[in-house]
Amino acid sequence: MSIKISGTGSCLPPLSVTNEDLSKILDTSHEWISSRTGIESRHICENGLTPVAAEAGAEALKDAGYTVDEMDYILCATVSPDYATPSLACMVQQELGGTCPALDIGAACSGFLYGLDMAQALIESGKAKRILLIAGESMSSTVDWTKRDVSVLFGDGAGAVVLEEGEELLSIRIGASGRAEPLFMKRPGGNCPYVPKQDGDVYLHMDGQEIYKFAVNAMVRDILSVMEAAGISAEEVDYVLPHQANLRILDAASKKLPIPPEKFLHNISGTGNTSAASVPILLDEARKAGKIKAGQLLVMSAFGAGLTTGACVIKWSKD
Ligand code: ACO
Repeated sequence: MSIKISGTGSCLPPLSVTNEDLSKILDTSHEWISSRTGIESRHICENGLTPVAAEAGAEALKDAGYTVDEMDYILCATVSPDYATPSLACMVQQELGGTCPALDIGAACSGFLYGLDMAQALIESGKAKRILLIAGESMSSTVDWTKRDVSVLFGDGAGAVVLEEGEELLSIRIGASGRAEPLFMKRPGGNCPYVPKQDGDVYLHMDGQEIYKFAVNAMVRDILSVMEAAGISAEEVDYVLPHQANLRILDAASKKLPIPPEKFLHNISGTGNTSAASVPILLDEARKAGKIKAGQLLVMSAFGAGLTTGACVIKWSKD
């Protein structure tokens, strides 16, 4: 027994900010951002992440033909929820209704792959029949907008899937290597009088070149590993749906893999890096564009803070 995706959904908040817009508030340019990352514009949540994540979840439920009351879990992958507590999953439940358990997964940009792995375990164990998995991020709330290095890379949005028993997930691999320094964001310190005041800020920090090397190596290793575990060859792969961190990372990884670059789907030009949300947004957009058809073999791959990684092979079954 395995699991299948019965429905997909996605939501990008309406405000779209171009590289030209950013060059008016930061010492940057469209040429610099687009040539180094492939990003041309990104969406920003003006009214919080919760309504965006709920909209993606509602779309996935509608596509699957279920109501929220038929879900046994709501899982949300995120590092940028509106509240530290309640979880984004509980906030989404407040909007969508339902009474099932709801919890967040904190695995950074690999969060959607971690969610698939958790969902498979819950469904295979008999603990759940159907799960709504949403990956949503408001990365605009995590970066320092007075600095140009990290702020230009990210965007906001959410993607969602409904999961249930099926035979689609042929293989999955998740991992972590417990390294904080290349990519981290501290929580705000409290005002406990017995604890020294925290040094540094609470924005997202990244060593771009370190992440670049890690990402390319991890994608190549994980994609080859899940293809082998699924018993499929590179020629059989219809599409790779990689985490949308940076077009140059995708190009470098595709050159090291026996899969031609045109099979690597990307939408980063209009979304920026939406962290955990990038793979399910890409999946939903590719379906809406008519690219994904029953019987196709899809490879997903992601990497992120932690340092976490994840990849899987899916034999798509929905028309
Ligand atoms: N606009 C203009 N100039 C900039 C900007 C900007 N937004 N940001 C940095 N620069 C300048 C720097 O100040 C530096 O100037 P200097 O040479 O005068 O000192 C110059 O550009 C080069 O800076 P680098 O940081 O060395 O730039 P690099 O070529 O490494 O590109 C980038 C940075 C795009 C982040 C690259 O390291 C990269 O692709 N890293 C991969 C990491 C990534 O994309 N992560 C995504 C998020 S993480 C995740 O999803 C898991």
